[in-house]
Amino acid sequence: MAATWLDFWNGSHRIYVNARHAEVHYAKLAADFISLIPAPSAVVVDWGCGDAYNAEEIVAHAARLVLCDAAPATLLRLRDRFGTRQRRIDVVAPEALRARYQGNVDLFVVNSVLQYLSDAELDQLIADARAALAPGGTLIIADVIPLRDDVLGDVRNLLRIGMRNGFFLAALIGLVATFFSPYRRLRTTVGLKRYDEAAFLARLRAAGFDARRMRPNLGFDQRRMAFTATRPKGVAQSTAAAEPDRADQA
Ligand SMILES: C[S@@+](CC[C@H](N)C(=O)[O-])C[C@H]1O[C@@H](n2cnc3c(N)ncnc32)[C@H](O)[C@@H]1O
Repeated sequence: MAATWLDFWNGSHRIYVNARHAEVHYAKLAADFISLIPAPSAVVVDWGCGDAYNAEEIVAHAARLVLCDAAPATLLRLRDRFGTRQRRIDVVAPEALRARYQGNVDLFVVNSVLQYLSDAELDQLIADARAALAPGGTLIIADVIPLRDDVLGDVRNLLRIGMRNGFFLAALIGLVATFFSPYRRLRTTVGLKRYDEAAFLARLRAAGFDARRMRPNLGFDQRRMAFTATRPKGVAQSTAAAEPDRADQA
């Protein structure tokens, strides 16, 4: 039985009520992600990417897409899909990202992950993103849960998406299934991390970013927060930055 959120994501779960739900979710996310890509030459990171259904669509707008996740089972599935076939999609664990990408990333997106991270893991992520980004590069942290919990809002949101996209009944059934699921147990025992907007901005600024709130949020849930944080140009990296490696991006 999953003891941590990472165990939960590494196992089989029913967060998406059916294939249509997952399809709609990842399609919206891909469209939002693409709108943030600064140029076709950009190296972009999707940290905590999950199954990244629309990775090929995203990489069509960039030079390289780095798919990063800490769940070994997710990495295996992603490598099955992209391992040797698609050199412009690099599938990495966070440690490999740290080793391979230093000062050569233009956009670093973290969507719907912060609720699962400990404080120490978040500090590490912010430091990794700062080190990976090129001067002027941007970190987007999105789908961050605000301090006020709103479980009823979560229910309404899922039903609304289901209604609009042809899976209302599956959404209803999914809600009942969630009530008896490991997700609910973990939500009650471990909990989901929530954040105060001002404190979160201060944390990003303390880490050396020019940070501000970004609207709209990525994805469907506009009750959640998004932040954009730019690594200032002309400020030296705190760790030694490797030369950008863009050799095999064609
Ligand atoms: C809700 S999914 C988000 C997937 C994708 N970014 C999206 O928005 O659909 C959360 C992701 O965070 C990753 N994750 C959960 N806990 C983590 C942890 N402690 N460290 C690193 N990644 C974690 C999971 O493996 C999972 O892929």
